[in-house]
Amino acid sequence: MDSPDVRRGNDNFNMSLNEIAKKLVAPGKGILAADESTGTIGKRFAKINVESTEETRRQYRELLFTAPAMEQNISGVILYDETIRQSTGEGVPFPKVLESKGVIPGIKVDAGLKPFNNPEKETLTSGLDGLDERLKEYYALGARFAKWRAALVIGENLPTAECLRANAERMAKYAKLCQENNVVPIVEPEVLMNGGHDIARCYEVTKNVLKIFFEELGKEGVALDGILLKPNMVISGEEAPKAAPQEIAGMTIKCFKEVVPTEVPGIVFLSGGQSEQEACENLNAINLASVGCPWQLSYSYGRALQASALRAWSGELENVPAAQQAFVKRAKLCGAARDGKYNSTME
Ligand code: 13P
Repeated sequence: MDSPDVRRGNDNFNMSLNEIAKKLVAPGKGILAADESTGTIGKRFAKINVESTEETRRQYRELLFTAPAMEQNISGVILYDETIRQSTGEGVPFPKVLESKGVIPGIKVDAGLKPFNNPEKETLTSGLDGLDERLKEYYALGARFAKWRAALVIGENLPTAECLRANAERMAKYAKLCQENNVVPIVEPEVLMNGGHDIARCYEVTKNVLKIFFEELGKEGVALDGILLKPNMVISGEEAPKAAPQEIAGMTIKCFKEVVPTEVPGIVFLSGGQSEQEACENLNAINLASVGCPWQLSYSYGRALQASALRAWSGELENVPAAQQAFVKRAKLCGAARDGKYNSTME
């Protein structure tokens, strides 16, 4: 796997873990999360009445990756196992399409959420089996960063200490394996916004979650300057009244200053169910409030970069240019928000 032959064509990204991480959070840029599992993309397609087949998924991803000038605001794309093996209609493998634009290919490597001890409520992320071999293969296919997502629920007495610890231990093992394979791990402990909790409760849980995850990364000897953190913003539950962007920004920054080590090069937020506009407003406010922060504060959005593109496309070939325009517009606005230069009149 390590032969020069296998690595040929990826010279662009023959960089250290720290250099890759920094390139992913360069000014004006962030990550497109296009790593929806087959099940999840099926749900997104169902909403626009498109049948989910290998070919429709390929067509949709092709429109995103070939969108004109998307590379101005997209530094990297997280792919799914099926997608990293797919090609354009003209036969160019997707990782090559991205590389040719200077966009770094990434790969989701977790195998999804499995029920934990209290199966109705909590989950433990799986995917360590065979991970070393898979990382070697993904590297050969062009991936230079990876993603593993743990999901933590807020509820009465939730998340439990056991579930939190077990997820953090697995995350640390994944991150260490990635680094041993020259792949930057994105560490994603997502505190879900489901529920009616207020922003103070989200702050308290997020702070504890991050504290435990960094403890485990430390125990495993993960190099913190060669990871990216992908957290939720500190935000109220979806059934509770919304906090203003300035409050979200203030609480989010306060939380990170308390628990995120300064060596971490960047924090890339997930959008987690925020609307496209909210995800921009909140990221913008966070960047405006980030004076003195050691980390770059950027995005790794799925839905907040794709929602309008999906609607515009609706599975029709003739809508591809409109869908690409919609995607590039969201990327531009996210890029502005990532620099603290967004305002809603740009919508
Ligand atoms: P959302 O931005 O839609 O939450 O997706 C990002 C992601 O990759 C979640 O794992």
